[in-house]
Amino acid sequence: MSIILIGFMGAGKTTVAQTLATDYQLGMADTDDLLSQRFHCPTGQLLTTLGEARFRQLEYQALQEVISQKISVIATGGGIIESAASLALLQATPNVFWLAVDFMTCWQRIAGDLSRPIAAQTNQKALTMRFKRRQIAYRVASNIIIEATQKSPQQLAAEIYSHYQND
Ligand code: S3P
Repeated sequence: MSIILIGFMGAGKTTVAQTLATDYQLGMADTDDLLSQRFHCPTGQLLTTLGEARFRQLEYQALQEVISQKISVIATGGGIIESAASLALLQATPNVFWLAVDFMTCWQRIAGDLSRPIAAQTNQKALTMRFKRRQIAYRVASNIIIEATQKSPQQLAAEIYSHYQND
């Protein structure tokens, strides 16, 4: 069974997945990395070029693949829950951890980041609306909520791993 990390941009999904992989010697995959390697293009650019609808389909396929390959730790893109198919797949899969981080922490990490078009092409108010809307989907998609504001990647990895072991 995989550990799957979901959450808003800047929640720390990739960093925590890498920490889990290093600290507990686990294999890891990141759906964003998978897509950028496959298409030889950074994910942000892929999203802009293909459009969000197509990007979400590809992201769903990548999620299906890494789950079926039983990769131990899977980091996802923050918008994966925008796809109904991905949301349903996550709901049907155990060990989906939502890294819940408050909006201002995410904002400080992602504001002005041109590699994240969803954040770069909007203002703080519009992004807050998206953040609020997504909170509902992250809750629906996850089985375990991890309060992740103000915790180090090592603390988060340990907390997630202990849930995983006790499951
Ligand atoms: C997105 C988040 C990004 C990446 C893409 C779209 C989003 O991943 O998948 O730019 O819609 O929230 P991160 O959550 O790793 O930034």
